[in-house]
Amino acid sequence: MQTTIMGRVVAYDERGSGIPLVLIHGFPLNRMIWEAQWEGLADTARVIAPDLRGFGESEMVAGATDIATYADDIRELLDALGVRQPAVIVGHSMGGYVALAYLRRYPEHVAGLVLANTKATPDSIEGKAGRDKNIALARDKGAGAIAEAMLPKLLAPNTAASKPGLVEQVNRIMQSASVPGIIAALGAMRDRPDSTGTLLEFSEPVLILAGAEDPLMPMAEQENMKEAARNSTLIVIPDSAHLSPMEQPDAFNRAVREFLAPLKNQY
Ligand code: MLT
Repeated sequence: MQTTIMGRVVAYDERGSGIPLVLIHGFPLNRMIWEAQWEGLADTARVIAPDLRGFGESEMVAGATDIATYADDIRELLDALGVRQPAVIVGHSMGGYVALAYLRRYPEHVAGLVLANTKATPDSIEGKAGRDKNIALARDKGAGAIAEAMLPKLLAPNTAASKPGLVEQVNRIMQSASVPGIIAALGAMRDRPDSTGTLLEFSEPVLILAGAEDPLMPMAEQENMKEAARNSTLIVIPDSAHLSPMEQPDAFNRAVREFLAPLKNQY
């Protein structure tokens, strides 16, 4: 589905009814990473999965983009869809950074958070330098070079060996990202603030989903979020690396379904 918000095309999928469940993808991915979630969870929630600007079928716009820009885009889409009640926001990796920015800006619109394969802390000095290198790489060599660098880090060795179709699908998703979208997202991630304080102030439920073999999001970061968010649960998903919603969709969906159950009752 597509809509136009302030002159910009925004693509999203929407299924089901009930409590709004907003799925925000990571970098350099798009809403297709959530296929198993919108199919598996649409019987329990109103699932809304947008493409962030510059990814998938959502248009990029020129101008400054920071992590809050994506959060504002999500709010504008939810407004356009008539979602005024608090939603459960699910963020995968960079989508988690956006979810935390959304919480910072729109706390009254958040009923709960699912933080998957992500972290609350900002980039280190080395991490920032890596973003600048990747910006140059994307500019010089395009999305394919970024996809090539990312692919080996996304899937657990078992997944990569046993599901060649999934490897191909993930690669295709990353290759399709626009270069301006990639460059803007790398800059936004590089400059994002520390969100630990945002979690400290949040008393609604938080589910932290970690990939047991995620090379990008160390377990210490997961423990850090668990400690900061006073009403949180941490679940480690076995046999998954950085893309747990795609690698282990059943375990992922089961955890989200259980998380939603008490929230739905209040809804
Ligand atoms: C992502 O998957 O969104 C990125 O790997 C996150 C990051 O680079 O910090």
